[in-house]
Amino acid sequence: MSDAPQNAARWAYLRSQVPAMERTTYLNAGFIGPMSNQVAQAFRDRFDLEVTWGPTTRVVSEDRMAITTRLKEAGARMLGCDVDELAITGNTTEGVNIAVNGVEMRPGDRVVTTNIEHGGGLMPAYRLREHGAELAFARIDAEDGPGAIVERFDEALGDRARLVILSEISFSTTQVLPVREIVQMAHERGATVVVDGAQTAGHIPLDMHAMDVDAYAIPSHKWLCGPGGMGLLYVKRDRIPDLEPVKVSGRYAASFDYEGKFEPNRDAVTKFEVSTMSSPAAAGMAAAMEQYLESVPQAHWDYVRWLNIEAERRLASIPGVELTGARQEATRSGLFLFRLKGTDPAHLAYYLQAEGGIVCRSVKQMDSVRLSLNAYNNTTDLDRVAEYVERAAMKGIPEAVLEAARAAAGPVEA
Ligand SMILES: Cc1ncc(COP(=O)(O)O)c(C=O)c1O
Repeated sequence: MSDAPQNAARWAYLRSQVPAMERTTYLNAGFIGPMSNQVAQAFRDRFDLEVTWGPTTRVVSEDRMAITTRLKEAGARMLGCDVDELAITGNTTEGVNIAVNGVEMRPGDRVVTTNIEHGGGLMPAYRLREHGAELAFARIDAEDGPGAIVERFDEALGDRARLVILSEISFSTTQVLPVREIVQMAHERGATVVVDGAQTAGHIPLDMHAMDVDAYAIPSHKWLCGPGGMGLLYVKRDRIPDLEPVKVSGRYAASFDYEGKFEPNRDAVTKFEVSTMSSPAAAGMAAAMEQYLESVPQAHWDYVRWLNIEAERRLASIPGVELTGARQEATRSGLFLFRLKGTDPAHLAYYLQAEGGIVCRSVKQMDSVRLSLNAYNNTTDLDRVAEYVERAAMKGIPEAVLEAARAAAGPVEA
């Protein structure tokens, strides 16, 4: 990681292309990212084509096929895999569910997950326990480095592990997990590994083949800043045949008739795709991945972690501020976590937006506020956060804002 931002012109350009940055200090891509002009235009162009010509005309049908190809080609480049290892999904959680529920479980098989998962990975694990699996947790602390994390997995795996479900970047502790090592260890014990990549796509460089993971699910709408309702599921080629599709459509059939003849297409990843998708959302996600790839993933990763260090430099010295996220070189990400002693983080996040136009969220599990530092952000944004946090630390949150924060339904913690 360099100590100065490389490619400054690229980050400034990206910033200029995000309309939401003209009105807010947007630091919430780990929840939902703001679309750029290019992404919005790709979405609109496809939407307008459908409206103008009708969705089943030849021109629109051909465009739909071109979009699917573009989506999977950009996905394969970003994920370091082949096009025919990618299924289109609606979001990360759907991808995780497809993979997890596709694994044949025997009574007493162990499922391993962590104490720092989002509901999108945790609930599928609990559901398996409801159906007879044994559930074990690798208990991870925000301070843990890769060595300690691997040890926790080693203990949790035991010798009956059948399935491992984990996030590569934790939404709560902000930590990067050493997935490659965990996959290797799990495979040695015969377990399948499903990764929740909700916080990674458009954030950290990815290489499915090098990671050797069995399945990896990503969304469009977080760090990539694509539209909602779209995602991709990677399934390693030699695992496609034995993962059972949990929902099926005509795409599952190699051939069938109405007299009882049915040949499933077990080997095609498209067996996991169910019926009609939103083409405008697919066009938007394709554009988002292309824009991200143009920035060069490693440069993007270096930049957001540099911003994280800059955030630390600005916030650490504010009285009452505690830094609560991952800060080791190996675990630090573009997510930044802090709390202000004596202040409910949900109220602080509310205050930051209401008074400072700073959009971020609280994370109940860590009793903290979380900033998502993406490529369109810069140190001006961090100065603004520091200014308003300092104001809250010195003067407290005004009673009227607190009242509004309490009255609000509460930040939705997706
Ligand atoms: C780690 C993690 N997993 C899953 C999700 C849910 O993602 P999606 O809406 O794509 O299903 C989130 C959302 O914040 C997340 O942070």
